[in-house]
Amino acid sequence: MISIKKLIIGLGGVSMATLLVAGLGNSMDKPDPAEYPFAPSLLQYKKSAAEFTPPETCGECHSQQYNEWTGSMHALAFKDPVYQGELNKAVKAVGHDIARQCEGCHSPAGIVTGEIKMPGLSGLSDVALNGVSCDMCHSVSGHSGWQTPYRFPGNGSLILSPGKDTPSGPVLTKYGPYQPEEGCGDGFHECVEQPLHKKAELCANCHQVYHYETHTPIESTYREWKDGPYAVHDIACQDCHMVDFDTFLRSADTMKKPKKEEFRHYFNGANFLIYALTEQAAKKAGDTELAANVHKKYEMAVARLQAAADLVVIPIYRDKKLAEIKVRVKNIRAGHKLPTSLTNIRQIWLEMTVKDENGKVIMTTGTVDEKGALPSEARLFNSDGMGEGFHFAIDPWEIVAFSRQDAIPPKGYKDVYYGVSAPQSKGPLVVDIKLRYRQAEQEIAHALLAAVPEDMDLAAIYGLTAMPDLPVVDMVSKSVKIEPAL
Ligand code: HEC
Ligand code: HEC
Ligand code: HEC
Ligand code: HEC
Ligand code: HEC
Repeated sequence: MISIKKLIIGLGGVSMATLLVAGLGNSMDKPDPAEYPFAPSLLQYKKSAAEFTPPETCGECHSQQYNEWTGSMHALAFKDPVYQGELNKAVKAVGHDIARQCEGCHSPAGIVTGEIKMPGLSGLSDVALNGVSCDMCHSVSGHSGWQTPYRFPGNGSLILSPGKDTPSGPVLTKYGPYQPEEGCGDGFHECVEQPLHKKAELCANCHQVYHYETHTPIESTYREWKDGPYAVHDIACQDCHMVDFDTFLRSADTMKKPKKEEFRHYFNGANFLIYALTEQAAKKAGDTELAANVHKKYEMAVARLQAAADLVVIPIYRDKKLAEIKVRVKNIRAGHKLPTSLTNIRQIWLEMTVKDENGKVIMTTGTVDEKGALPSEARLFNSDGMGEGFHFAIDPWEIVAFSRQDAIPPKGYKDVYYGVSAPQSKGPLVVDIKLRYRQAEQEIAHALLAAVPEDMDLAAIYGLTAMPDLPVVDMVSKSVKIEPAL
C-alpha cells in the first residue's frame, strides 16, 4: 500500500485539503480571503496611490461617452431605489456581510475603498454614488473568472487597477478596446489595449450572480448567452447593448458585428421603470437636460422590448372542430433568455381574449385585475425560486434552487396550448393576443420601494406620495381570425 505521504509527494506537493475536496467531489470551496478580501464579492483591487476618477472628470474629454452613459442603468445601479430597498432588506435579514456582495457589482469602487458602510446614499463620494461608472470598466486590467471557486465568471470577479505608483508619483492607467495612438490620454492617463473589452467576458463578471454562500446561479445572463447561438457567431453583449436601436436590430438579425464607430455607451436593456422614475426625479429637481436624456432611454428600452419577441397563433382541430389554440412565443432578438437575470421577479405573460362573430367573449386569460395582480392561470415565461425545504422564495439570499424555469431561450420558443370548447356560432372567431412585460409583480415592487433606507425620501426625490401603479409594456399585440370548424 502506498502511504498518503508518498502519494502526496508523487502528486508534486498537492495539499491534503485539495486531495480531499477533489476526492469527495465536495461542494464548492469558499473564496480564499487572501485572494478575495471582499468576499462574498469576488472583486480584486490593485491598490496604489492612483485613485478612481469621478465620471464628470472623464466626461471633460470624452463628452460623447459621458452623455450616453449619464442616466443609463449603469449610472443608476447604486441609486436605484428598487436596489436600495432590496439591499436594506438583505442586510436586515442576514447581516451586513452580504452587502459587500451586492456592492461589488452595484458600486465596485464604494466597496474596494471601504467607503460604503451601510445601505443608503448619504455621505458618499461621487465615485461611489455613480455605481458602474467609467472607471469600473476602464480600470479593469483582467478578471479571475476561470479561477474563482466555481471556475466561472460571476459575483464581480474583476480585477480593478485604476493606476500605478511610479518614482514621479501615481499614474492613471485606462484600459480600452483599441491599440492606443500616440498621446492617447492627453497626459491625464496612459492607455493600455485590453482585448477583454470587446468580449462578453467583461460583462459576465457582473451579469452572472451566484448565491452568496451556496453558489447557486441566481441570475445567469452570461451562461444563457454562452449556451446560445449569438455566442457561436461572436455577437457579444456590446454588439446589442452598446449600439443604437437600428444597429442592435442588425446585430440580432444578421449576426454581423458593428463597426468601430457604431459603439455607444447607452447600456440600454428592458428597465423602463427606473428611467421613468428618474425622469420624474429630474423634472422635480429642475434638471430638464437629464429628464430629456432619460426619457430617450425610456423610449429605447420600450422599443427594445417590442423588438425582442414574436407570436404565432395556430388553431388545432379534432373531428374537424376547434379543440385548442396553440400560441408559439418566440425570442427573436434577445441574446439570452427572455426574460433574463431576475427571471423569478420579472414578468412576461400572455393575455388573450377570444370572441365569436357576434363579439361575445368565449374565453379570456391573463388580464391584470384592479389591484394589479395576475390571475393564477396566467401563463408566465419566467421562473420560480425556492429556498431550503422547497418553499417559494424571491430574495437572492434565500434562493438555493428553481422549481420552474420557463424563460424562452435565445432564437428559441415556447408553445402554450389553450383548450377551447367548440363554439356554437359558425363564423370566424377573433383572437386578440398580447405578450406583456413588467419589471415585477405590483406587490413586490411596492414592498421594495417601501423598504428603502431612511435617508432616501421617495416623496422628496421622486415626488412619490403613494405607491405607483406599475406600468406594463405590450411587447407584441396581434388580432387573428380563426375558423371554429373545418
Ligand atoms: C460597463 C462598462 C463600461 C462603462 C461603465 C464605460 N465604458 Fe467605455 N467602453 C466599454 C467597452 C466595452 C468599450 C468598447 C466598445 C467597443 O468595442 O468599441 C468602451 C469604449 C470606450 C472608449 C473608446 C472607444 C470609443 O467609444 O471611442 C472610450 C473613450 C470610453 N469607453 C470612455 C468611457 C467613459 C468616459 C465612460 C464613462 C462616462 C465609460 N467609457 C463607461 C465599457 C464601458
Ligand atoms: C454579480 C453582480 C451582482 C451582484 C453580486 C448583485 N447584483 Fe443586483 N443586479 C445585478 C445586475 C447585472 C442587475 C440587472 C439585471 C437586470 O436588469 O435584469 C441587478 C439588478 C438588481 C435589482 C433589480 C433592480 C431593478 O430596478 O429592477 C435588485 C433589486 C438587485 N439587483 C439587488 C441586489 C442585492 C440586494 C444584491 C445583494 C444581495 C445584489 N443585487 C447583488 C448584478 C448584481
Ligand atoms: C484630459 C483629457 C482626458 C481625460 C480627463 C480622460 N481622457 Fe481618456 N483619452 C483622452 C484622449 C485624448 C484619448 C485618445 C483619443 C480618444 O480615444 O478619444 C483617450 C482615450 C481613452 C480611451 C481609449 C483607449 C483605447 O482603447 O484606444 C479610454 C478607454 C479612455 N480614454 C478612458 C478614460 C476614462 C475612463 C477617463 C476617466 C477616468 C478618461 N479617459 C479621462 C483624454 C482624456
Ligand atoms: C461592475 C459590474 C458591471 C459590469 C462590468 C457590467 N455591468 Fe451591466 N449592470 C450592472 C448592474 C449592477 C446593473 C443593474 C442596475 C440596476 O438594475 O439597478 C446593470 C445593468 C445593465 C443593463 C440594463 C438592464 C436593464 O434592465 O435595462 C444592461 C443592458 C447592461 N448592464 C449591459 C452590460 C454590458 C453590455 C456590459 C459589458 C460591456 C456590462 N453590463 C458590464 C453591473 C455591471
Ligand atoms: C442579440 C442581441 C443581444 C445580445 C447579444 C445580448 N442582449 Fe441583452 N437584451 C437584448 C434584448 C432585445 C433585451 C430586451 C428583452 C429582454 O429583457 O430580454 C435585452 C435585455 C437585457 C437585460 C435586461 C433584462 C431584464 O429583463 O431586466 C440585461 C441585463 C441584458 N440584456 C444583459 C446582457 C448581457 C450581459 C449580454 C451578454 C452576455 C447580453 N445582454 C447580450 C438583446 C441582446
